[in-house]
Amino acid sequence: MKQQSIIERAKKVLPAGSFGNFEAGVIIREGQGSRVWDEDGNEFIDYLIGSGPMILGHGDPEVIEAVTEQLAKGMTFFANNERGIELAEEICRAVACAEQVRYVSSGGEADMYAMRLARAYTGRDKIVKFEGGYHGMSAEAQMSLAPEKLINFPAAVPDSAGIPSSVRDSMLIAPYNDSHFVESLITQHAAEIAAVIVEPLQRIIPPAPGFLETLRSLCTQHDIPLIFDEVVTGFRFDYGGAQETYGVVPDLCTLGKVTGGGFPSAAVAGRAELMAHFDKAQVGSEGFLMQLGTLSGNPVAAVAGLKTMEILRRPGQYDKLRANGQYLMDALSRCLEANGHAHQVVGHPTLFEAVFTDKPISDYRDVLTADRAKAARFNELLRENGIFKGAGKTYVSLALTEEDLELTARAFNTAAEGLHDG
Ligand SMILES: Cc1ncc(COP(=O)(O)O)c(C=O)c1O
Repeated sequence: MKQQSIIERAKKVLPAGSFGNFEAGVIIREGQGSRVWDEDGNEFIDYLIGSGPMILGHGDPEVIEAVTEQLAKGMTFFANNERGIELAEEICRAVACAEQVRYVSSGGEADMYAMRLARAYTGRDKIVKFEGGYHGMSAEAQMSLAPEKLINFPAAVPDSAGIPSSVRDSMLIAPYNDSHFVESLITQHAAEIAAVIVEPLQRIIPPAPGFLETLRSLCTQHDIPLIFDEVVTGFRFDYGGAQETYGVVPDLCTLGKVTGGGFPSAAVAGRAELMAHFDKAQVGSEGFLMQLGTLSGNPVAAVAGLKTMEILRRPGQYDKLRANGQYLMDALSRCLEANGHAHQVVGHPTLFEAVFTDKPISDYRDVLTADRAKAARFNELLRENGIFKGAGKTYVSLALTEEDLELTARAFNTAAEGLHDG
C-alpha cells in the first residue's frame, strides 16, 4: 500500500518517523470540508481538524479565495503590512483583555513571551502554572505538563530532558480548580510571583464555578498579571474566547490556531501597560523585552485568520458549532452508558472527550484515574469506523453535516459495543 511506503521513508529522515505531533502510522493526503483522506484513500470524518485551527473545515472556499489573492501580492515581508494590522485591530475589537497585540508564529512561542513579558513588567521571576496545563514547549511550559511521577505541590516535575534545573525552581505548580490551594500559594509567595498562567478550560477540564474569578481577584489583589492561554479557546468557545464565555478578563492572553486560519500565526494580546514592554521607547533598555520573528504578522496568515473570523461573526455560527458538539457529547454519553462503560464526557460543546472513569474530573490527577488502555482502544475502534481524532480531544468544526453527525453517533455506538470484545 502507498501509505506504508511513505511511512518507511519517513522513518529514515524523521526521528521516530514523525513530525512529533501525531501517530507516525497515518499519512494524511488531503482534507475537504469535514473529511480527510489518508494516502491509501481511506476517508474519515475529521475531529482533529489540524489540532484546532480548521474550525470551518478544510478548504473553505472563501478562505482559499482570500489567501489566493494575497499570495499573488506577496507571501511575507518581515515589514509591517496592512493585513497584519487589520488582524490586530479585529483581535482588539473581539477580545476583552486585548488593547494591543504582538505576533509570533506559534502558540507555544506566544506563551513563552507572555510569561517573559510578565517577568519584565513585575521584575519578579516565579510563574504559577497548573499541573497538566499545556502552554507549548518552552522550558517553563514543560514543567508538570503530564507528569508520571506525582510529587507534592508546588514542586515542579520537568517533562522533558534538556531543561536546566534552575527553571524548575522558578515554577510553582498548583492543582487546577483548587481555589483554596492557589489562594494560600499566592498569598505566601506573592512578592516573587511574576504571573499566573492558566488554560481557562484546562485541556478538557472545565473551570469549577468561581475558580477563574478567584484567580482574577488574587492576581488583582497582589498586582500579579493573569495570563489566559486562549490558543485553543480563542474564537472557539465564543468570538471573544473563554474570557467572554466565563466573564473573567485576564491581563494578557495568548491566541493562535483559529487566528492564523490554518497558517503559522499566533499572538500575545493584552493590556497596553504590559504590552509597553515590547516598546523600548516607552520602557527604556532596562524594561525592554526584545522580540522578533521572521514570519510575525505574515500577511497570508493574517488574511486567512481575518476571513475565518469574518465567517465566524456571521449570525448563528457559534450556536451551530455548539449544537453540533452538544449532539455528539450526548450521543457519546448515551452509548457508553447503554453499554455499561464507566465514563465522564468532559469538556465544552466545541471540544470534549470521553474519560473512562466514574470519578468526576476536576484536575489532572482525576484524569489519571481513568482507564487509558480502554480509551486508546475506543479511539482505535472509532478510527476503524471512519472517525479521525486525537487521543485526548474531539474538536468540533462548522463543516460537520447532519450526515456526519449521524455517522459519528453510529460509530460511537459500534465502538462502545466493540469495547466488550477486549
Ligand atoms: C492551550 C494550548 N496552548 C498552547 C499551545 C501551543 O500552540 P502551538 O502548537 O501553536 O505552539 C497549544 C497547542 O495545542 C495549546 O493547546
